[in-house]
Amino acid sequence: MNNVTVLFVVLIFLVGRAGGIKPNRGYCYGTQCFTVFREPLNFSAAQKQCKGQHGQLMTVRSTVSHDVLSILLENFAGEFWIGLHLPTGCPDPADKLRGFKWVNADSESDFTNWSPNFDSSCSSHRCVSVSQKDEYKWTQEPCEERVSGFLCEYKFDDACKSLPVAPGEFVNYTTPIGFFGGEDMLSLPPGSTAVRMPSETKFICFSEQWLQAPWDCAVNKGGCEYKCADDYSDTPSCYCPPGQTINPTNNVTCGVEAADDPCLTLHCEHACHRYKNSYACTCDHGFQLAEDGRSCVDFNDCTDQRQCPGENFRCVNTVGGFQCVCKDGYRMSGDLCVDEDECESAPCEHECKNTPGSYQCTCYDGFKPDPESPDRCILYCGFEECPAECDPNNKFECYCPKGYVSEERDGGDTFCLDIDECDFGYCEQTCRNTFGSYVCSCFPGFTLVSEYKCVKSEDTGDSGQSTTPKTPSASPTVPHPGPTRQPSGVTTGGLVGIIVCTVFFVVLVVFLIHYLLLRKGKMESSDALKAAESEAHGLQQVNGDG
Ligand SMILES: *[C@@H]1O[C@H](CO)[C@@H](O)[C@H](O)[C@H]1NC(C)=O
Ligand SMILES: *[C@@H]1O[C@H](CO)[C@@H](O)[C@H](O)[C@H]1NC(C)=O
Ligand SMILES: *[C@@H]1O[C@H](CO)[C@@H](O)[C@H](O)[C@H]1NC(C)=O
Repeated sequence: MNNVTVLFVVLIFLVGRAGGIKPNRGYCYGTQCFTVFREPLNFSAAQKQCKGQHGQLMTVRSTVSHDVLSILLENFAGEFWIGLHLPTGCPDPADKLRGFKWVNADSESDFTNWSPNFDSSCSSHRCVSVSQKDEYKWTQEPCEERVSGFLCEYKFDDACKSLPVAPGEFVNYTTPIGFFGGEDMLSLPPGSTAVRMPSETKFICFSEQWLQAPWDCAVNKGGCEYKCADDYSDTPSCYCPPGQTINPTNNVTCGVEAADDPCLTLHCEHACHRYKNSYACTCDHGFQLAEDGRSCVDFNDCTDQRQCPGENFRCVNTVGGFQCVCKDGYRMSGDLCVDEDECESAPCEHECKNTPGSYQCTCYDGFKPDPESPDRCILYCGFEECPAECDPNNKFECYCPKGYVSEERDGGDTFCLDIDECDFGYCEQTCRNTFGSYVCSCFPGFTLVSEYKCVKSEDTGDSGQSTTPKTPSASPTVPHPGPTRQPSGVTTGGLVGIIVCTVFFVVLVVFLIHYLLLRKGKMESSDALKAAESEAHGLQQVNGDG
């Protein structure tokens, strides 16, 4: 990989800054640039436009800045906003800046240039404009006025000094802020391009240096007139449409191809790469040369981790390129990926907590996240007994967690009691009750299978005793009214055992009584039925015979 690639990522950002309305003129010196927009906007809309390009309304704190005004506004009639205003109160004639402040909220200035007629009006927000006609004297205006235009300033690190030129040459500059310039430019912001005429050699300003084209293909096609190829990644190269060839004086523009060009015989799908006296096919940026040496295939640009350097960005490969999108759980806001508040769409059954890139569901007391669907909550006790979850409008409508049974106590409160599933003999050998469930295990020399069966272990050296926690398959979730009994004054462990036994016993007795009654009833009714049947049959027979 080209070792300046990572630096170029910064350039992509710089070059991408231009956009929106374009300045009509610009000027740079040192690490600052200034622009003029002939666009009638009020003061706040003008400041917004400057800020949109990472600048602000121009401050005129020194005679040098004052001189820049005359460069920018030469031949431009009308009033232009500068970044000086009085947000509240009345002008103070005793103060150097008359109580006004620069847009970045300070009031430092080595220079003032107030218009001689003192305007003491303080009925509204006051802002300052300058005009060529008034020799750039500071004039107060109501800020909502749409004057002829406004002036912006921008500060840069790593600006380049203007490109040296030989006699007979001149340079055209294009800045990332959207204005063009010539020889009068003293410095250029990073990301500016320069074309040195008449050779048409091209340069880009990066890190105080002018780099000659073709540079990294990802930035403005490497500066190529037609297209840029970089599958020989350490040497990006420009190529031209069929029938044309790269101009060797600048390596970026296209000229008429010679008939004996060795590239003609290669039949390259995209481009022919020349290096000293050798020729080979090469591919557009984002493509890779196929095995046949002439076709091009899409290259996964995302293998380079540096492609999407912003925090929380993710790279998506596309045909011939890539896209930077936000990671899951983040959304685009301006040029940043910000955390999305998933809780706004209420994904959790109970409580939701937003986390960077995700969210977390929690459950109210007495519930736990459902292991099968973590956004939902299920009843949970974790003790031998817990108060039941009852409908506040209907205290007879109560619910207990899985593996618990409800019980109404004196005073009308309903409780959930753990069921000792071990009493049901679900396990083949050993059973251990847990709150809400049970665990089967096997004697030494046996292995647990299907969670409850024990089979003789093949390898007796193995402990053979394995356990697996198990939730009861027959889920005794009993809504109210459940089996209601009087609690006895015994320990909770014993109590549960007794309850389950009693429940069993009661059920058995009820069943027995019911069975006996049914039998008795059946016997009685079957006698009656038999009589009725024979009667009917008799009649039928009589009828049939008759
Ligand atoms: C300034 O202009 C913008 C758009 O032109 C408008 O939305 C805004 O309300 C104006 N502000 C003032 C203070 O007049
Ligand atoms: C360079 O600037 C000159 C005048 O400033 C202009 O005539 C010429 O067309 C420009 N050339 C390019 C390539 O922009
Ligand atoms: C054009 O590129 C070749 C190598 O590819 C180099 O030798 C030559 O100096 C370059 N020409 C210019 C004007 O930079």
